[in-house]
Amino acid sequence: MTKYIIANWKMRMTKAGAKTFVQGLAALRDLPKEASTILCPPFPLIESCLGHPSFDVGAQTSGAFLQGPYTGEVSASLLKEMGCKYVIVGHSERRVHYGETNGVVKQKAQKVLQEGMTPILCIGEPLEIYKSGQANTYLQQQLQESLPEEGPLLIAYEPVWAIGTGETPSLETIEKTHYFLTSLLKTQTPIIYGGSVTGDNAKDILGLPSVSGVLVGGASLSLETFLPIIRSV
Ligand code: 13P
Repeated sequence: MTKYIIANWKMRMTKAGAKTFVQGLAALRDLPKEASTILCPPFPLIESCLGHPSFDVGAQTSGAFLQGPYTGEVSASLLKEMGCKYVIVGHSERRVHYGETNGVVKQKAQKVLQEGMTPILCIGEPLEIYKSGQANTYLQQQLQESLPEEGPLLIAYEPVWAIGTGETPSLETIEKTHYFLTSLLKTQTPIIYGGSVTGDNAKDILGLPSVSGVLVGGASLSLETFLPIIRSV
């Protein structure tokens, strides 16, 4: 079964860092065949990541419209033209810092699909919801309101409290949550996990039957920390 190993570099990569990373990754010939590796760089670095058969490229977000007077936005159509195959939509950092609602996330996902790319739709509960035991209700609402009408897409379950904290839910909780999400979906959809994934926990997380991959932040910034995750597949 394919396992998606997705690097989300966020706003943390440099031009020189990306060059070293991409050259190093592209030179490897012994990556697990079941691993589908995707790099999601900041927009200006997309071009320098393209053109390598052993990994695909995605964007970290895209505009809710396909073209027009939207200063600073990047459309799904341009990302497609550039060569992106995937676009992350609804990452919690976009929701928290830029006020993206479920409705906006859905609109973005639809545009990504319209352009023939695959959205990586992120959902995840904040700490207070997790602590109150209401995570499933919260996730169900997020999913219902942000899911595009039709796929294909990937869903990334990223508990907000697990992002960049070194904390992860228990393997049992990840498994149960993924099964719960699967039960809400009409079509078979890969569900990947994100939040403090490292070379130390990747094998256990990727070994869960309901987990179709991982979305990696901090540990995706260097090959030293990212490769062990790919090799965990
Ligand atoms: P970390 O792996 O740094 O916790 O980030 C996860 C994430 O937000 C990936 O999208």
